Amino acid sequence: MVLASALILFAAPLARSPAVAQEADLEAAKKQFLTSCGVCHTVEPGAPPRQGPNLHGVYGRKAASLPEFTYSDALKGVDWTWDDATLDPWIENAQSVRPGTVMNYRQADPAKRKLIIAYLKSLSAKP
Ligand code: HEC
Repeated sequence: MVLASALILFAAPLARSPAVAQEADLEAAKKQFLTSCGVCHTVEPGAPPRQGPNLHGVYGRKAASLPEFTYSDALKGVDWTWDDATLDPWIENAQSVRPGTVMNYRQADPAKRKLIIAYLKSLSAKP
């Protein structure tokens, strides 16, 4: 019994090749982004902002740094770059990170936040 379940644990990750797994994960990540953030954010390079700024290349970008977007006073002038450490609490509860921000959004599920961040990261990845 113990041996059988050990085999299942080892066999499962081998069932999909890493490349296929990554693509599937990215597809899921994109879906999650569109569901959670797409109403307010575009991601195509050069696409106009919606309620929030265009997020193409936001991973690794200095916060509140797009000249064409009018940020709230709450976000204007903050001194950080968007990465795993700053995006996670922001998506979890933007208002608690910067009280008064006009982004009214909360995502309590860490797995969904992880997917969304992975998608944003993929948009910034250098080819
Ligand atoms: C209801 C609309 C809305 C939703 C939904 C929303 N946002 Fe926002 N977002 C905004 C607005 C508005 C701002 C500008 C905030 C400000 O100026 O205070 C913003 C700002 C941001 C910024 C800062 C960008 C920069 O240039 O510094 C990031 C990052 C961000 N949002 C990520 C997300 C992600 C990821 C999601 C989905 C999990 C999401 N947002 C969902 C409206 C939204």
